[in-house]
Order: sequence, then C-alpha cells, then structure tokens
Amino acid sequence: MTNQTTILDPKLEQTVSQLRCIECGAVHKSASRTLRCPSCGDLLEIIYPAWKTSGGRAAGLNASELKALWRRRRSSRAAVDQSGVWRFREVLPALASGHQAISLREGNTPLYEMPRSARIVGVPHLYAKHQGMNPTGSFKDTGMTVSASFARQEGFRWVACASTGNTSASMAAYAARGSMRSLVLIPDGKVSWGKLSQALDYGAVTCQLKTDFDGCMRVLNEVVERMPVYLLNSVNPYRLEGQKTAAIELLEQCDWQSPDHVIVPGGNLGNCSALGKAFLEMRELGLISRMPKLSVIQAEGANPLVRTVRETSGKRLIPVQAETMATAIRIGHPASWKKAVRVLEATGGTVEQVSEIEIAQAKAEIGADGVGCEPASAVTLAGLKKLVKQGFVKPSETVVLVLTGHLLKDPEFTLKFHRGDLFSGTPLESQAAILAAHERAPIVLDASADAVVKTLEQAETLAEEP
Ligand code: F0G
Repeated sequence: MTNQTTILDPKLEQTVSQLRCIECGAVHKSASRTLRCPSCGDLLEIIYPAWKTSGGRAAGLNASELKALWRRRRSSRAAVDQSGVWRFREVLPALASGHQAISLREGNTPLYEMPRSARIVGVPHLYAKHQGMNPTGSFKDTGMTVSASFARQEGFRWVACASTGNTSASMAAYAARGSMRSLVLIPDGKVSWGKLSQALDYGAVTCQLKTDFDGCMRVLNEVVERMPVYLLNSVNPYRLEGQKTAAIELLEQCDWQSPDHVIVPGGNLGNCSALGKAFLEMRELGLISRMPKLSVIQAEGANPLVRTVRETSGKRLIPVQAETMATAIRIGHPASWKKAVRVLEATGGTVEQVSEIEIAQAKAEIGADGVGCEPASAVTLAGLKKLVKQGFVKPSETVVLVLTGHLLKDPEFTLKFHRGDLFSGTPLESQAAILAAHERAPIVLDASADAVVKTLEQAETLAEEP
C-alpha cells in the first residue's frame, strides 16, 4: 500500500479556493513567498466562493450528504481517507490534478472524558480533544499535511519555519515524507529536548538562534525574501485549513451537537483562528446550528492577546517580552492576533491568563486523569477554573479542552515538577508548596521486596479517593 494518494476526485473539481486578505479584502490567485497580501501586507485566509453561490453546499454536497460521506470514509482503506484531515477534503483547498497529499495518517484524535478534572473544576461535562495524539505528538500535523503538500506542489525543495519546537518537529517529518529539505530556526535553550530531537531525527537543518521565538520569526522572514524556501509557520493559510479539521472532527464526535465552550491555548494564535474558522464554516454549511464559544488562554508572562483585548478592545496589538516555562507558547508578538480577535468576537468567547503555578498544577491534574499533556496545553484547564469562578462557564455547560501537545514532549518539566525542583530558586518557590500534594517523585530503594512492600503500604495509607 502506498502512503501517498491522489486526492482529487471528480466532485472536488468544485472545491475552488481563493486567497483573501483579512484586512483589505483583496483576492489573490497566489501568495508571495512571505504569504502576505501583496496590496497591504496583512495575512491571507482561504475562502470558498462556490459555497455561497451554491446555497451552502461544499463540493456540491449538502450538510447531510457531507456527514454521511465523511462517516463512510472512516471504514475506507484508502490512505487519503485514513487521514483525519483529508477525510474532510470537501472543505479543504484541492491539490491540482496529479498531485498527492503528504500524509502520516494525522488527525483521528480521541475525545476523552475527564472525570477527575471535571470534579475539580465543578463542570461535570468536561472533555479533552487530544491533539497530542497526532503522529509527531502535536496538533501541528493536521496543518502540516496540507501546507507541506502545497509546498511540494509549488515545486519547492526547501521548507522552513521559526518554532518553539512543535512546528519544527512536524515540519521536519512532513518534509522528509515528501522528499523535501527543511530549515528550522529555534530559540537557543528554550525548546524542549523532545521536540528538538524530533527535528534532528527527521533530518532538518536546525539552527538555534541566540534570540527568542519572535526574533527567530524576524530572521526567517528575511531569509524567505532572499532564498527560495517555503514558509510553513501558521501565517501560511494552508496550514490553518488543515488545523481546521480538528474542530470538524470534534463536532462529528459530538454527533454534530456543539459543545457550549471550546478552550484552547494561545501562542502565535494560528490554532484558535483555525478552529474558529471551522466553527463558522460548519454553521455556514448547515452542519451545526449553534456555535461553541471559543476561548483562548495564555500564560501570564506571554499574554499579548489578553492585553490586546483588555487594553485596546482588540484594535491594536500589544506585544510583550514573553517569559513562561510553557515554552511552546513563549510568544510575545503573535502573527495571527487579528484573526484571533475576530474569532473571539464571532463566537462570543473570551481570553484569560494563568500563572506558572496554575499551569503546573493543571498539568498534574490532567495527568491524574490518565491523559497527560505538555505544559502549554494545561493552560486550558487552569483557565477553565477561572472562567467557572467568573461565571462565564456555567456548571451545566459542556466544555472541551483542546490539548495541543503530548505529555512526552517536555519530560524535563514533568520530572522537575515531581521532584519539587520546578520552582526552586525562583520567586515562585514559596507559592509552589501548595503543589506538593500533586508531586510523585521516583523513590529510590534497595532491591528488596520488603522495601517495595513497605512503600506500597505507605502509599496505601495516603491513598487518595479513586
Ligand atoms: N500548544 C502547543 C503545544 C504549541 O506547540 C503551540 C504553538 C500552541 C499551543 C499555540 O498555538 O501558536 O497556534 O496559538 N507552537 C508553535 C511552535 C508556535 O512553533 O511549535 P498557536
């Protein structure tokens, strides 16, 4: 069986997409290498004009036909159907005839019930959509399968990104699968080893720059102007189209009954923009009648969207010098802030920020549900606690947390936490004492059954309720 399959079928000829500038509205057939509007320099988004002219049909199909087709494909053995992204190809830009998708069978991620976390937060209907269960361990794969496929179609030999780690891991994998080379720019010392080691193994040329993510992004934009490399950061609108499918898959898993709230971490703000776009489009196509409220949570030390919304009502970006141990979202100058503000407004969601201690505690709580995630993903549960306290989320409502990265992405954070070292020597040390109840340091013992039995008995007396 081949892992790459032609994705065009006759129906897809109707899935004609265009690039439109989010600011000036100009429509373009193709994008410049910086993926910005040639007229005004703002970001582009992909639109499907035929949906309007055909009365809300995608690829000629109405809502119930789309639902049935997507469901049928779940039992298909074709590679393109087994991808949890390309399964929804009627609402994605189509590759030209004869071109193939680069796929690692991304998507198809579980929606978990979160009973322990639900009890802690006081919201009984709490779920986690675990995007960390993608092939390279983060949500980036769903976008990368689409954007890398378009990069290859355009004939690029090199793809490139600036990254806090996950984008680089994903891009390197898809470039390798698609026989392209990849260039990674990451902030020196601020990317977890798990993510860095992935980029190396998948064969990326990996440059650790002596700056932060925002600095890497600046350098990359210059490189892209000078060299024929294809930019795969989330300013790439094809990536967001792929990431959109996580929301579609979620709705399908909910039998097309929208949850009341979806909560997502915010970094460069591409993902919340993609998920929000999906909800709006699913309503336009009649697949859902009501939209979830999409809310974005940031770390207190990397909170440009929170400040932008609170201090300028979303009119002007307030960049910050970002600092957080949740390195994936250590971003002070997010590219997609305008898209994010629009999604918040369109869905009625909100923004919130959480402290380092709150992130660490929430991460351990998600772990105790047997699910686990990387630190950046845990802001969702930490943020939910605040939204419940504020009354923005009601106990009767259904809430989905989007967990963006796998627990194994950042084992150093987890180990330090359980050893009680995460905050030692920092100004947060005294507050961190409240976390002791969650810590589970490894216990070093003599190699004797007696020692183990004694430990077991002690653990039993301290046993928490199941
Ligand atoms: N969660 C994880 C695990 C991430 O890796 C990222 C972003 C985010 C959340 C935030 O998503 O940027 O779309 O708002 N990581 C990027 C990277 C920046 O380079 O891997 P966003």
